Amino acid sequence: MDNDKIVTLLNQDLEGEHGAIIQYLTHVYAMGEGEMACEIEALAREEMRHLDWLAETIVELGGVPSLKRGAMRMGGKTVADWMGNNVLLEEDAINLYGKHIQAIDDPQIKRLLKRILSDEESHHGNFQHFVGKAQKEGAKDVRGNRTDKVVQTLNWGIEHEYTVILQYMFQSYMTTNKEAKKQLEDQAINEMQHLGWLAEKIVDISASPRIEYAEVDQSTRTADMLRTDIKIEQEVATAYDRASREVEDPDLRKLLIRLRDHEVYHAAVFSDLLKEEEHQG
Ligand SMILES: [Fe+2]
Ligand SMILES: [Fe+2]
Ligand SMILES: [Fe+2]
Repeated sequence: MDNDKIVTLLNQDLEGEHGAIIQYLTHVYAMGEGEMACEIEALAREEMRHLDWLAETIVELGGVPSLKRGAMRMGGKTVADWMGNNVLLEEDAINLYGKHIQAIDDPQIKRLLKRILSDEESHHGNFQHFVGKAQKEGAKDVRGNRTDKVVQTLNWGIEHEYTVILQYMFQSYMTTNKEAKKQLEDQAINEMQHLGWLAEKIVDISASPRIEYAEVDQSTRTADMLRTDIKIEQEVATAYDRASREVEDPDLRKLLIRLRDHEVYHAAVFSDLLKEEEHQG
C-alpha cells in the first residue's frame, strides 16, 4: 500500500477521533459536575492523544491531517441513552481500526493502530458500565434553554475557541519551525481550557453550549500562519474586552477579562515568533 492510501485511512481514523472527542465533551458539559462526567472527560482526553498520534503519523507520511469531524451519534434523551450512543461510537471505531490494521502492512503504523484499538476496547467497556450507572444514579441533563445575548456571546466564544484549537493544532503539525510548533501546541491546549470554561459557564447560567467550529486557516508557510493567528487573537481580545464591559454578572466579567488577557498574551507570543521567522526569511 502506498503512502497516499495509508494517509487516507489514517485520516478516516482521525476524523473519527475528532467526532468522539466532541460527542463525549458534549455529554461532559451537559452533565455538569460529578464523578461520571470527570471519567468521561478523561476518556475524551485519551481520544485527543489518539488524534495527535494519527496526525503526526500522517505528516510523517507526507500527508495533510484532515480538519473534518467524523460522524457522531448525538440522539437520545437521557444520560443512559447517551452512554448507549457512546458504546455504539466505540464499536464504530473498533470496526474501523480492525479493518485498517488488516489493510496496512507498515509494522510501526500497525502497532500504533493496535495500541489505539486496545484503548477503544477499554472505552467500550467503560461506556457499557456507564449505561447502568446512569440509570441507577439517575444522572441528568443539567442544560437549560436560555438564549439571550449573553448566551449568544458565550457560544460565539466557543466557536472561536474550537476553531483556533483546530487551527493551532493543524499549524503545529505542518510547521517546520520547532519553536513555533511548541508554542502552537501550548496555545492550543490553553484554548481547550477556554472552550471548557465557556461551556461550563453556559451550562451554569441555564443555557446549552453549541460546539461548532468555523473555517480553519490552512496556510502552510509559518509566517502566513502566524499573521493569520495574530489577527484572530487581536480580534478576539477586543471582542472579549467589549463583552466583559457589557455583562452584569461579576463572575462572568472576571472570566471574560481572563480570556481577554490570555488572548493578548497569545498575540504577543505569535508576534515574537513572526519577527523571528521574517528575520530568518
Ligand atoms: Fe480513540
Ligand atoms: Fe482562547
Ligand atoms: Fe488565543
